[in-house]
Amino acid sequence: MRLRPEQANPNFPSKTRRNHDMATTMETLLAGLNRDLAAEYQAIITYRSFASLATGPYRQEIRQFFEEEIPDELDHARFLADKIVALGGTPTTEVAPIALTRNNREMLEIAHKAESETIERYEERVRMADELGLTALKVRLEDLIVDETDHKEEIERRLKNWKG
Ligand SMILES: [Fe+2]
Ligand SMILES: [Fe+2]
Repeated sequence: MRLRPEQANPNFPSKTRRNHDMATTMETLLAGLNRDLAAEYQAIITYRSFASLATGPYRQEIRQFFEEEIPDELDHARFLADKIVALGGTPTTEVAPIALTRNNREMLEIAHKAESETIERYEERVRMADELGLTALKVRLEDLIVDETDHKEEIERRLKNWKG
């Protein structure tokens, strides 16, 4: 007996399976966007805390640096919450776990790791939006990637010639 491709290979995207995947992907997209939102809330609280906790001769500079990132992250959270509602979901009120330190260099390292992970998450979200044909969302997510890449590169430049 000849097997249909989807019988021979359970991963073969049959029509039914494709439709099922579409439904799952919208749910997965909403779950993903909520994870992104929780991470933006994490960034806002983390950067506010780091700005206040910074010490030493560069205290003012580090304080100002973290404070200046907060409006961008707030704007990302606003966009995500609005979009989640527009797509029929409920925006999370959860905050991703926050790591605190009183060491200035560690603050920048924590922020650098978070920004890198955020870029990866948004790249994944762009692929999902593309799969669902949500072009406007895809473009806006790419704008977020631009912002987060700026943040990441700014932190890299600060870490480069770190003394002490
Ligand atoms: Fe952000
Ligand atoms: Fe950021």
